[in-house]
Amino acid sequence: MSKLAEITLVVTAMVLIGVSLAIVYPRLSEPTREPLLDWKDNAVVARGAKLYAEQCASCHGSIGGSSITNKMNTIQTSAPSHDADGHTWEHPDFALVQLTKTGEVAELCRNVSESTMPEFGQALSDRQIVDVLTYIKSTWPKDIRMRHDEINLLYEGQNTAVRELLDLSES
Ligand code: HEC
Repeated sequence: MSKLAEITLVVTAMVLIGVSLAIVYPRLSEPTREPLLDWKDNAVVARGAKLYAEQCASCHGSIGGSSITNKMNTIQTSAPSHDADGHTWEHPDFALVQLTKTGEVAELCRNVSESTMPEFGQALSDRQIVDVLTYIKSTWPKDIRMRHDEINLLYEGQNTAVRELLDLSES
């Protein structure tokens, strides 16, 4: 083979490898799906904060509010606080969504035999439920959010299954 043919062959091979990598690589490095409770999205958090004040704070207290009235209120309603002191963050996404929709709190989490946690499945859309839960997550300190992310990894199957059923379009 002549020197020129050899060079042409090597150059062609390199170009082909380059082109294949350019096609394959973006697919490999495609980012995974946005998290369901996307607390970095300011618009979602703002919508959720409004809903929280209107629909949840009367029983659960306003997050970050450490006033005596706030604490007394949550004791009276026996609704746990949603901040880092509560145990909301110990539930994976799918459980938080189901719980808010149905009002059914797992036996283990019950403070009281008769729960007064309302069923929000009719009053709020899936989008609104996710918005309000996203706001709650946005208020947790970084280490609690990271622990919640780890808990979510353990329940990836259930999270994906429940997520498929949600209608997250903004109405
Ligand atoms: C009428 C009072 C009331 C309102 C309003 C209310 N909740 Fe609750 N919620 C409760 C009570 C009481 C519990 C605890 C139930 C139990 O212990 O059985 C609870 C529990 C929960 C839990 C489980 C917490 C945990 O740590 O296990 C979540 C999540 C939750 N509520 C979300 C919400 C959201 C989101 C809203 C607003 C959209 C809301 N709740 C509005 C009373 C209320």
